[in-house]
Amino acid sequence: LRIAVLVSGSGSNLQVLIDKQLNNSLNIEIVGVISNKETAYALTRAKNANIATFVIDKNEQGKTYKRAEFERLALHVLKPLEVDLVVLAGFMKILTPLFINGVKDELNAPMVNLHPSLLPAYKGLDTHERVLKSGERYHGCSVHLVTSELDAGQLLSQAVLDVRPDDTPATLQNRVHALEHMLLPRTIDFIAHGVIDVENVGDVYRFWGN
Ligand code: GRF
Repeated sequence: LRIAVLVSGSGSNLQVLIDKQLNNSLNIEIVGVISNKETAYALTRAKNANIATFVIDKNEQGKTYKRAEFERLALHVLKPLEVDLVVLAGFMKILTPLFINGVKDELNAPMVNLHPSLLPAYKGLDTHERVLKSGERYHGCSVHLVTSELDAGQLLSQAVLDVRPDDTPATLQNRVHALEHMLLPRTIDFIAHGVIDVENVGDVYRFWGN
């Protein structure tokens, strides 16, 4: 599976994919990493693995690209990579139908996003704080197909944990992050092997973590 990964930050999920590609435990080739932040550590991780990186951050005037400009450039970068799957892993920019339909129609590739909550609950930011404030018993992470509604596309998989009485936003973040590192490669593996058919999604795959 030829995949492109879009990132904005640390890229620990990208690192897991790189490691699994390198030790052949996941049948993928990461053919490009696109970042909307020039300072993202994910870029260093990609470069260290000799993966092509593309930074779409500031224009010649030093201004951050407007959404539509970013999306056009990203599609332009993705097109020649001939990807089978686009993965959003810690990509923090909201995408509009321009990009989402472009991926579908021009690249003919599905796109998945990794989100740190049990969707459809807790879309958006600060999920760990909100989960704690609401006194939830369960939390976790989800992988879903990307549609133009934020964090609302068809769910593919989830990993669930029990919220502990002594959890803080920081401990929950760490625990969910560890679950993500399991869930994302596993879900990509399911897509690669046709266990998950992105054209005709059946059951949501759920895993328990701790
Ligand atoms: C993850 O929690 C992901 O769900 C969220 O951003 C974080 C990215 O982590 N959207 P990393 O950059 O892969 O370390």
